[in-house]
Amino acid sequence: MSAAAAVPIRGKAANRSFDVERIRKDFPILQTKVHGHPLVYLDNAATSQKPRAVIDALVRYYEGENANIHRGVHYLSQIATEEFEKARETVRAFVNAARASEIIFTRGTTEALNLVAQTYGKTNVGAGDEVLITAMEHHSNIVPWQMLCAEKGAKLRVAPMNDEGELLLAKYEKLLGPKTKLVAVGHVSNALGTINPLKQMIAAAHAKGAVVVVDGAQAVPHLKVDVQDLDADFYAFSGHKMYGPTGIGVLYGKQALLEAMPPYQGGGDMISSVTFEKTTYNKVPHKFEAGTPDMAGVAGLMAAIDYMNGIGIEKIAAHEHELLEYATEVIGAIEGVRLIGTAREKAGVLSFVLDEVHPHDIGTILDQQGIAVRTGHHCAQPVMERFSIPATVRASFAMYNTKGEIDALALGIRKVREVFA
Ligand code: ALA
Repeated sequence: MSAAAAVPIRGKAANRSFDVERIRKDFPILQTKVHGHPLVYLDNAATSQKPRAVIDALVRYYEGENANIHRGVHYLSQIATEEFEKARETVRAFVNAARASEIIFTRGTTEALNLVAQTYGKTNVGAGDEVLITAMEHHSNIVPWQMLCAEKGAKLRVAPMNDEGELLLAKYEKLLGPKTKLVAVGHVSNALGTINPLKQMIAAAHAKGAVVVVDGAQAVPHLKVDVQDLDADFYAFSGHKMYGPTGIGVLYGKQALLEAMPPYQGGGDMISSVTFEKTTYNKVPHKFEAGTPDMAGVAGLMAAIDYMNGIGIEKIAAHEHELLEYATEVIGAIEGVRLIGTAREKAGVLSFVLDEVHPHDIGTILDQQGIAVRTGHHCAQPVMERFSIPATVRASFAMYNTKGEIDALALGIRKVREVFA
């Protein structure tokens, strides 16, 4: 990733032609009224809303293209196969992978990370080895490694963060050693918004001979990601957080690593030949795509990428950064609010707590005003423990959010304070 790509592009100048009102019209759900109020959707880190282009792609697939891929000689099967492989190429270009065969379709980030743990992990991590993660990981980037370590007699080590929610890079580097076989790190923290210094982290891990798996679920919707520039060995992300359908995701893996790995699941499409005595496996990426995949989801994901490309990831990043700066100022100024996660490099996530009010109560009162935020531990319980809190309220931004919506959130929080005064 180039320096420009490593952080969101800042300032209004980069964003002159970004028209949020026009973008909002592309998302039908944003017209919804909730409890009589216009929907203010600020739960994008959980899942983003879908533009008409993505919804149309799903309908188009089922109305005009549906057939099983890689199997039929008939017209529809050929069309569906072509679209599926075109989508793979679209994803390749989106993250700048060297080859389309390095793109594996999965159900999402969680499945992609489990795939790596169960294949690369099982064959390369042994007793006494170490897997290094960070203190700000989502459960999906903790539990698969815990399971692997338990099975193999390996040790899970955790690189700490400071009170702002920034990784302590020197401590991370110290934890890397000859026993470190694998590093698993989130590009952007879902609970704090922190953007990790990934390029540096990967270079340091490689210098010690470790392979790096990146949970990119919260990064890909918000930053330009270049897997070759990052030199990531594996990079996982989900369609549904980047305006695409649910149930579809991606694992990028370097070709040589993928080729050396055993398959994940057995079934159709992942084989080259099967007899009762012996099965030989298909080449990558098909070796990792057993069974009928989510073809409609792949079509929707391609439409989501086309949509994002049409607007420009740099413009999306600049808009979201402006929202984050505004929200940090406006929400942070409310009496009793404590922001959780104040890293210098952040994507559009604002986590906070308010006086003694439980986040679930805050979320419920905000919902009455049509405002959707996530409350709870955000599948990152160790992060909550690190900050000695049970939960936070999290507002997370997407390209279609506005400063007016942040004002509505501020008003909503003030109402919560009144109720609990
Ligand atoms: N991982 C999703 C979140 O952060 C569900 O909300």
